[in-house]
Amino acid sequence: MQVNIALLPGDGIGPEVTASAVKVLQKIGEISGHSFAFQKQLIGGCAIDAHGTALTDETIQICQQSDAVFLGAVGGPKWDDPNATVRPERGLLKLRKALDVFANLRPVSVFPQLAEASPLKPEKLEGVDLLVVRELTGGLYFGEPKGRSIVDGVETAVDTLRYNANEIRRVVELAFQLAKDRSKKVTSVDKANVLESSRLWRKITAEVAANHPEVTLENMLVDTASMRLIQNPADIDVLVTSNMFGDILTDEASVLSGSMGLLPSASLGQGGPGLYEPIHGSAPDIAGKGIANPMGAILSAALMLRYSLNLPEEGVRVESAVRKVIETGNRTVDLGGKLGTAQITGLVLSAL
Ligand code: NAD
Ligand code: IPM
Ligand code: MN
Repeated sequence: MQVNIALLPGDGIGPEVTASAVKVLQKIGEISGHSFAFQKQLIGGCAIDAHGTALTDETIQICQQSDAVFLGAVGGPKWDDPNATVRPERGLLKLRKALDVFANLRPVSVFPQLAEASPLKPEKLEGVDLLVVRELTGGLYFGEPKGRSIVDGVETAVDTLRYNANEIRRVVELAFQLAKDRSKKVTSVDKANVLESSRLWRKITAEVAANHPEVTLENMLVDTASMRLIQNPADIDVLVTSNMFGDILTDEASVLSGSMGLLPSASLGQGGPGLYEPIHGSAPDIAGKGIANPMGAILSAALMLRYSLNLPEEGVRVESAVRKVIETGNRTVDLGGKLGTAQITGLVLSAL
């Protein structure tokens, strides 16, 4: 099979970790007889430098015509001016919207051998295996109006938190479908005691739940959820939530696994190419040093094999190789070890 992947390494450590994932995919191709063609494109700060915009229409088109899109990370201090009219992150948001990938799956699991890399007590981490389903194309990130103006002589900024019933239903429905193959429990996280959009979220979620009697629904306020994730993380299985809450809670959840650098994600819509990226950012503090942990990117490639390329066995192979490397005690710097990106990637390739 010939597979066409749009490759958007982005900024900072983005190119470093995507290079590792590409090597892993090429190896999987050799092993399984499939051929992966990568079409490399700019996104984020590097695209601003080259084209004055964080994502060109041509790149969007190439992504839309691909079988899947693989992305590193965008952003960095160079483009962080609070008065800038173009920002790297804008490119990523535009891409998610253009691909209509409304559901962002962020699995969080704990390798028992890495328990010591987490600040939590090891017994708290036993049995932790959760799947966060984050709404990705709506909510506070996209609501209109947004912008800056002078109101009554005072500089003022507006963001709008807006959801309609359809946007809520489709992502919650997916969470319930996914829960059927897991522990049959969905935790829906909102702020329904304060936000109108959360009260609509809760109403629609109850309607979806009524159609899935075999799955238990638990509603949880986001402040409580942020505490529970640390206090009793093993009690949560599938967690579905809005765009902003999902962003924050998954960085928090990454602490359970031991490092931001470990967590992958898959962004899916209704048909069309999926978007795959680690959950971490461009990590300017370590960019260019060759020490970024590539596992989040490599595990994102495994999700791509499974969800977009219909190669689930190859996806399992990649995940097993990562597990084997970690089980045998190999650690990158973020996990307290000494290995660099190239070395740990080499070990994953050998394990494959
Ligand atoms: P970050 O995720 O880039 O880094 C947070 C911390 O985690 C840093 O100390 C970093 O060194 C560490 N870290 C992250 N990934 C790692 C890896 N693979 N291996 C080892 N350590 C890793 O968050 P930040 O520093 O707040 O943001 C930097 C830039 O990245 C900002 O411009 C932000 O907007 C952007 N960002 C982009 C994405 C994305 O493209 N999907 C995601 C998050 C942040
Ligand atoms: C992420 C990032 C992005 C987000 C930013 C860079 C737009 O933090 O992918 O988690 O908030 O969605
Ligand atoms: Mn984030």
